[in-house]
Amino acid sequence: IPVDPFDLVIFGGTGDLARRKILPGLYRRFRDGQMPDGARIIGAARSDIDTAKYRQFVESAVLEFVSKKKCDPEVLKAFLGCFSYVTVDALGDMGWSELAKEMRDDVVHAFYFSVGPRLFEPIAERLKSHAIAGPDARIVVEKPFGHDLETARALNATMAQHFEERQIYRIDHYLGKETVQNLMALRFGNMLFEPLWNAQYVDHIQITVAETVGVEGRGAYYDRSGAMRDMVQNHLMQLLCLTAMEPPSKFDPDAVRDEKLKVIRALDPVEPEDLVRGQYLGDDDVAPYTQDAEAEDSRTESFVAMKLHVSNWRWNGTPFYLRTGKRLRARMSEIVVRFKEPPHSIFEEDTGQSANELSIRLQPNEGMDLKVTIKEPGPGGMRLIDVPLDMTFAEALGEEVADVPDAYERLIMDVIRGNQTLFMRGDEVEAAWAWTDPIIEAWQERRDVPHSYDAFSSGPEEALMLLHKDGRRWRELRE
Ligand code: BG6
Repeated sequence: IPVDPFDLVIFGGTGDLARRKILPGLYRRFRDGQMPDGARIIGAARSDIDTAKYRQFVESAVLEFVSKKKCDPEVLKAFLGCFSYVTVDALGDMGWSELAKEMRDDVVHAFYFSVGPRLFEPIAERLKSHAIAGPDARIVVEKPFGHDLETARALNATMAQHFEERQIYRIDHYLGKETVQNLMALRFGNMLFEPLWNAQYVDHIQITVAETVGVEGRGAYYDRSGAMRDMVQNHLMQLLCLTAMEPPSKFDPDAVRDEKLKVIRALDPVEPEDLVRGQYLGDDDVAPYTQDAEAEDSRTESFVAMKLHVSNWRWNGTPFYLRTGKRLRARMSEIVVRFKEPPHSIFEEDTGQSANELSIRLQPNEGMDLKVTIKEPGPGGMRLIDVPLDMTFAEALGEEVADVPDAYERLIMDVIRGNQTLFMRGDEVEAAWAWTDPIIEAWQERRDVPHSYDAFSSGPEEALMLLHKDGRRWRELRE
């Protein structure tokens, strides 16, 4: 889909997110010829530097985060030509009229708020008072969208004073991941799965987002958040919604988001026995959470596992098990749909027959596999075995096709195209907090202490028990 010429202003243009994600992502789009001729990117931040210096910053970000063999010096030079820089004080008057002068008429205007939430309001106000952002300007905001329901509501209200909902693009980068969108293609582009996608045929669903990294460097933020706020309220909730939602009538922003919202609203409150919190220990090579977070007595969870019920017609009786944590055995994100066993076995011996399992791997090795039962080839009678029908995208489609764009670059291009489908709507964010808040409050009230788990393990034993007591088990964590 062609992209119109645009002026993209990145507030926080010299920050970490810009350096690691936004700028390298924009470069890859440019290199692949997906950036229109009239594309301009304006870095805006407090640092007192000029355009030449900013271009050096952009260059070093690209060289650091785009693999060398994919970086062409000529292309990079042309890319840097798209950039300019304005020193702007988000809390004062400096730079705003210069920024206004930089903006061209008749192109798409997008403003990326790659800054802490406390700067959202002052920036929004100044964009309006200096007549920089018109009624068609697009505003991109990053998580965290609030710390709880109250602050999320306040943030939404602030944004609403200045912009309409159709202008606001709340990024949850998990929605930009290739396989997450593939989940929708799989469910709604095939006849095969949807008729079985319900409590009658699905035994349970597992959603895992496991990381090997700790919280090093982000301790101060993380210790106030914990895995529940940092990962579950947003990323896991989005994965849950896309897995559980009803088919939208079309692939359009409100149709999709309406269905996601219904899932969040159908979630039952979680019983304390269905929740497990954990905190990682250290080993000879890595520090424990408390040291990483510089909070000796911290009760913040770096791991959480839970059993959820989506209380609606489709899912009544099918539990959803979610888990996420840092410093785990493997970096692995996947959604697993475990189907029920056939109601009756026609085979006389106990053949070890088991259930079908569809796993959708987000990272690494994006792809899907479906476990099916077949007859073991050769003599020996009717012995059944499970084999995977594996579709690793890199193998099935070739390395080039499988060189999937990073979540951020896809989402930024969607902003320019004006497509909000993969962005969170204000009411969705609030509904997710309304569900999360009571869980966190209950932990705080009873001063819940997380279970310890070994670094690079599968998390606390209690998380394994959560499934064992239901006669189930988690998929093994492996890369
Ligand atoms: C971020 C969280 O939103 O997502 C981090 O704040 C987490 O704590 C990260 O590490 C995970 O993203 P990804 O794309 O590496 O899976």
